Amino acid sequence: EKGGYEHFMMKEIHEQPKAVKDTLNSYIKGEGEQKVIDLADVGLGEEEIKEIEQIYVVACGSAWHVGMASQYVIEDLADIPVRVELASEFRYRKLPVNGKGLVIIVSQSGETADSLEALRLAKQKGLKTLAIVNVVGSSIAREADHVMYTFAGPEIAVATTKAYSTQLICGYLLAVQFAKVRGLIDDEKYDYYLEELLALPEKIEKILSDKERIQWFASKFSNAHDIFFIGRGLDYAISLEGSLKMKEISYIHSEAYAAGELKHGTISLIENGTLLIGVLTQKQLYEKTVSNMTECKSRGAYLMGLTTYGHYEIEDHADFVVYIPKADEHFAGSLAVIPLQLLGYYTSVAKGLDVDKPRNLAKSVTVE
Ligand code: BG6
Repeated sequence: EKGGYEHFMMKEIHEQPKAVKDTLNSYIKGEGEQKVIDLADVGLGEEEIKEIEQIYVVACGSAWHVGMASQYVIEDLADIPVRVELASEFRYRKLPVNGKGLVIIVSQSGETADSLEALRLAKQKGLKTLAIVNVVGSSIAREADHVMYTFAGPEIAVATTKAYSTQLICGYLLAVQFAKVRGLIDDEKYDYYLEELLALPEKIEKILSDKERIQWFASKFSNAHDIFFIGRGLDYAISLEGSLKMKEISYIHSEAYAAGELKHGTISLIENGTLLIGVLTQKQLYEKTVSNMTECKSRGAYLMGLTTYGHYEIEDHADFVVYIPKADEHFAGSLAVIPLQLLGYYTSVAKGLDVDKPRNLAKSVTVE
């Protein structure tokens, strides 16, 4: 049942190229330059898309991290203000509604209690709702106005990998389509984004083929007390997910920080040998984050850099570097997250922990 892998998590990590491809192929229709994103199954029409004035992405855990990443992509491409909310917080706020809003609920299981209640609240407030869900026929899928399924297949490991990756894809597809419908990108740019999206599965495959290097690195740091992940913009969103993967299955305390914020607090926790991982896929933010990394190095941190092939000058600063293939920067998170999933996985394995069923955690949380 684990397909020859030792754990479901590793099997599911390896299923990502296919899961991503299946999700892309479910919404991208047509051949060659005739390819288009088709949201007919989602039921989100052009008029409805044009009317959106504000988007809320509401979710828990890793699904909330998808919201954080989607926020950057939707705002950048489609120019619609996006707020990302934890479902357990969104539910208990006043939530003044001005104008036409779309609430996107992201949930693998479609049963998370807080996310379901947040959906109900949004509907009561008269907001349109769209659910990005993996489990067909789940409560959230049944109650939302629109459903965009992820095609990840069943996910068994508590720590999500392929569901997260397919949710990200849905976020990108919405961003690109919203941008197109609202007249913000021309056909050429649209085709380019579709090609970049369709190229992701192969690039994920390539990263997976080099996993032994991450395994080696994980074994070096499996006794760490704290690990820090930093990045700016989309790289911050990916840092959040990398940090959660690490702490939930390896039980090593870790934090994700917006790179510029570290010096306002957490830098005091950096000691000799503390591992600090800098995520560097956004060209415009690269230098700034590198300078935050070197600030930490001068306080004793051991630096791992995660960047794209070509940025070889990072080796002047970082002690260990992982390179990922180049992709359009909006979608680079889909690649950057893979080594971070592997790092969490191999650290947990090196410590002899129960990778698929970490203590105190459940796959689907139906209590509030
Ligand atoms: C959790 C899971 O507690 O619930 C996470 O351990 C998940 O992996 C979160 O991201 C939200 O679950 P769902 O099913 O709503 O995506």
